[in-house]
Amino acid sequence: MMHTAAIRRAALPVILLFVVWAGVLFPSTSRDVMSHMPHVKVEFGHPPRSPFNETKVALLIEGRAMPHLTPLLLHYMSVVPPDWRFKFFGTNESVEHLRRSRIVRNHVDDGKLDVELLPEGFRLDGQEATSQTFTNLTFYRDVLAPAEYLLVFQTDAMMCANSGQNLDDWLIYDWVGASWYEGAKYGGNGGLSIRRVSRIIKVLENQVRQPHSQGEDVWLTSRLAMLPGAHMANGTVQKLFSAEMLYSDRPMGYHTGKGGEYLHSKNFGTKELRDHLWEYCPELKMMLPMDEERYFPDNEACPKRQNWKRDAPAELESAVLI
Ligand SMILES: *[C@@H]1O[C@H](CO)[C@@H](O)[C@H](O)[C@H]1NC(C)=O
Ligand SMILES: *[C@@H]1O[C@H](CO)[C@@H](O)[C@H](O)[C@H]1NC(C)=O
Ligand SMILES: *[C@@H]1O[C@H](CO)[C@@H](O)[C@H](O)[C@H]1NC(C)=O
Ligand SMILES: *[C@@H]1O[C@H](CO)[C@@H](O)[C@H](O)[C@H]1NC(C)=O
Repeated sequence: MMHTAAIRRAALPVILLFVVWAGVLFPSTSRDVMSHMPHVKVEFGHPPRSPFNETKVALLIEGRAMPHLTPLLLHYMSVVPPDWRFKFFGTNESVEHLRRSRIVRNHVDDGKLDVELLPEGFRLDGQEATSQTFTNLTFYRDVLAPAEYLLVFQTDAMMCANSGQNLDDWLIYDWVGASWYEGAKYGGNGGLSIRRVSRIIKVLENQVRQPHSQGEDVWLTSRLAMLPGAHMANGTVQKLFSAEMLYSDRPMGYHTGKGGEYLHSKNFGTKELRDHLWEYCPELKMMLPMDEERYFPDNEACPKRQNWKRDAPAELESAVLI
């Protein structure tokens, strides 16, 4: 073994010399050989490629420091495909509230999430203010740039981890949201919606919404649908995306309406429906107040009976946990 190794070591300079000499004598052949060599390029000083696709933006605008704001945002970040970026616009109050979370700050540092005040000139107090922001050309063209695929979600909208769907499958449409009526040809609630930014810009370059007129989602979708080459999702398709006023078995998400005050009867109205929601999309509970007072009838009078088993009749002794 030692012997052949020694021969190889001695042969190496000879072979190298031959290669160099051949390269000098037959330059075209050596260029030929070189072009077949694998190229390895080492670059210094360039940042690694971003794991995020800057054209896909999930957007939440909320001025109130709601208790479920942070967990809601983090939940969305876990169910939306990982190359999406997230933008949060709020008030001092809601921005400060979010930034209190260390994991939120980590996501900001990683470039996954922006947590910012809503820029000067835009308002977020109430539905009319929201409608003005979401029909504003500057907002889509400049504030959100370079977003092209927008997921808008509000604090009363939930995506269900159990759905098994991929949000990216919806990007073929100009707009997707929960339909308002059966048989809709296009249009749906903006509270949980997919929007194609370049199409909305086309509308807003030509038309201006009058303040206190239609809600932004009604106003925008009726115009997007009229654009040449429009690609709107119809009611049948939208049922797979989001449910609000119409029943859907397994949508990708739900929008409850009016900031969580409205639980529409077609999805919440019976025990069977609510049992189904608990099975399929338990995350919905995050936005419902924890009002279980009936299980704690009178703490003053019965200090020993304060741990009540859910769903057991309150008058039964067996309902008490010891
Ligand atoms: C970003 O996503 C869009 C939509 O899926 C896709 O067309 C585009 O090629 C992606 N860009 C990059 C840089 O991956
Ligand atoms: C937000 O906070 C900044 C700095 O603390 C302050 O200057 C500004 O006036 C506040 N804005 C509002 C709307 O409260
Ligand atoms: C859109 O917002 C910008 C910035 O606040 C404002 O200057 C502009 O007037 C708004 N456009 C409309 C149509 O309200
Ligand atoms: C809705 O759109 C889907 C997909 O484009 C299509 O297959 C279906 O026929 C449409 N349904 C109605 C009622 O128009």
